[in-house]
Amino acid sequence: MNKGAFITFEGIDGCGKSTQIAMLEEYLVSSGKTVIKVREPGGTVVGEKIREILLSKKNDSMTPMAELLLFVAARAQITEEVIKPALSEGKTVICDRFFDSTFAYQGYARGMGTDKVMDINLAATGGLEPDITFVLDISPEKAFERRAVRDGGQQDRMEALGLEFQRKVREGYILASQKYPRIKVIDASGTPDEIASVIRDLTMKIGEA
Ligand code: TMP
Repeated sequence: MNKGAFITFEGIDGCGKSTQIAMLEEYLVSSGKTVIKVREPGGTVVGEKIREILLSKKNDSMTPMAELLLFVAARAQITEEVIKPALSEGKTVICDRFFDSTFAYQGYARGMGTDKVMDINLAATGGLEPDITFVLDISPEKAFERRAVRDGGQQDRMEALGLEFQRKVREGYILASQKYPRIKVIDASGTPDEIASVIRDLTMKIGEA
């Protein structure tokens, strides 16, 4: 990996993304890269407002199409305001979720159609795609246990959709990985160090193929 890269992390809720993002960031910074870390939905003033709307349990009347368009709206904003400028300055961008979340959650698990969702996604990002995407793959049961420890049983609007929904999201990610070679499915049941080492090795190979 020579220049700045666009790296995204994906997975069902509670898959361990935050730990792995922090570990990869530390590694890249210690090897001299300038790294910026952002999350979706959010990462901009507009995006954080959209995040509040999307995750508040008060908004349980939101239609699937409104949900889809709000996630994509937040993405359009962060792509233009933060991600593209950083990449053009040669920085590495690590994004906690990006458009494969919309593929798996709205396109597949909500049943809105993965092709339709990807068309809208690409319109929102002006064709920008990650260089590499890590899907941290874990069983919904194990992820649920992790979230219970982390959040003390508190759930946002998306997490409250339950285990069956998370199972579908997991399937959605596997489907995405079969369509897009940039997506690497990582077994997230190992120790944080084991997982981090696999992710580091794959990251260092970006641009080699
Ligand atoms: P987070 O808790 O990882 O920040 O993600 C917020 C929630 O929003 C999580 O349940 C996944 C969901 N989500 C979607 O359903 N579609 C999307 O496009 C994104 C980015 C997140």
